[in-house]
Amino acid sequence: MTTPARAEIARLPEYSLPDLDLPGCETIVQLAQNELAISPSPQAVRAAGAALGAMHRYPEAEAELRRAIADVHGLDPAQLLIGAGSLELMGLLANAYCERGTDVVVSQYGYKFFQVLCTAAGASLNVVPESDMRIDIDAIAAAVGDDTRLVFVVNPGNPTGACLAPGAVRELRARIPQRVMLVLDCAYAEFAEHENDFETGFDLVDSGANLVVLRTFSKAYGLAGMRVGWAYAPADVVATLQKIRPPTSTASPSLAAAEAAIRDRDYLQKVCQEIAELRGAFIDLARSLGLEVMPSATNFVLFECPASLPLSAAVLDARLRENGVILRPMGSYDLPNHLRISIGSRDEMARAGEVLTRLLT
Ligand SMILES: Cc1ncc(COP(=O)(O)O)c(C=O)c1O
Repeated sequence: MTTPARAEIARLPEYSLPDLDLPGCETIVQLAQNELAISPSPQAVRAAGAALGAMHRYPEAEAELRRAIADVHGLDPAQLLIGAGSLELMGLLANAYCERGTDVVVSQYGYKFFQVLCTAAGASLNVVPESDMRIDIDAIAAAVGDDTRLVFVVNPGNPTGACLAPGAVRELRARIPQRVMLVLDCAYAEFAEHENDFETGFDLVDSGANLVVLRTFSKAYGLAGMRVGWAYAPADVVATLQKIRPPTSTASPSLAAAEAAIRDRDYLQKVCQEIAELRGAFIDLARSLGLEVMPSATNFVLFECPASLPLSAAVLDARLRENGVILRPMGSYDLPNHLRISIGSRDEMARAGEVLTRLLT
C-alpha cells in the first residue's frame, strides 16, 4: 500500500489528452492540439541551438526574456513572471490562492485543466454557462460570492474561438469586487491581436487592478514543446508566486528561443497572416459542406455536425481517423456533436479538407 493522496486529488478523474495514436496509418495529420504547424522563427531555432552549449549550467536567461517581453509589449519587467508554459503559472495561482472553503468562478468553456488545478488545491468550482458560446459577463458577476477567490476567463476562448469585445475585460473587472482576482488566459492572443482590436488587459494591471494576464509561447510563436509562458500581474502577486515557483523550472534553450521569437516581429506577422488565410479557407469549405462553424480569432475552429448531415460528430471523427486525420472531439466540454480542428500547414489543411469533402458529399 502506498501513502494516500489528499482527498481532493484522490477524487480527481485522470485528465485525458486526445488519442494521437493511429496504428497502421502511414500519413497522419494531427490537428487536435492547437499547436502551430508552421515551424517557429528560424532565429528562435538558432538561439535554442546556441544555448545548448550551456546545458551544464542552470538557466540564467529569465531576466533577458522578461526584458524582451517588456520591450515588445511596453510593460514593466518587474511585473512579469516566466513559467514552464502558462500551465505552470496556473498551478501556482491555484496553489497560492485556493483552499478548502473557497470557490473559483469559471466560464463554461474555460480551459479545463485550470479547473483541475483549483479542485486539487481544495476550491470548489462555480461553472457559469455561456450564452451562445460567448462569455456572459452579467452571469459571471452574479456568480461571485463571499468565498470566491478567483474568476478565470479565457480570451479568445478555447474551444469556442470567440473573442471578447473591446471593453469587456474592463467591464468584467469593474463588475467584480477588487478582492477577487481576475485571471485572463490569453493563450491565443497573438492571433486575435493580428486581426482585431484586442483588449490585452495590460493597462488594467498597470493601473493597479487585481488582474493576472497569462500568455504563452506555445501557440503563435510555435514553441509548445519548449514550455514557456508568462504572466503580467501586480507586483505583490508576482512576489507571492515567486515564493513557490521552482527557481529553475524553464530550460535555457527554451528561454533563448522565446526571447528570439518574441523579438522577431516580422515572422509573427507572417505566421498570423498565414493562419488567418488557412482558417478562412477552411471555414468556407466547412460551411459549403453543411457544417455549422463558429467564427474564430485563433488557430483553431469549432464546428457542429447538424442533424441534417448524414454523419454525427462521433462517426465523422471516427471516419476521419480511419483516414489519418485527427481532430479533437468535444464530449468533455458537453458538446458531443462538435469537433475542433487546429489550423495546420497548407498541406495538412488540404489533406483534411479533401477527406472531409469525401466523407460529407
Ligand atoms: C486556453 C489555453 N490556455 C493554456 C494552454 C496551455 O498553454 P501552455 O502550453 O503555455 O502551458 C492551452 C493549451 O492548449 C490553452 O488552450
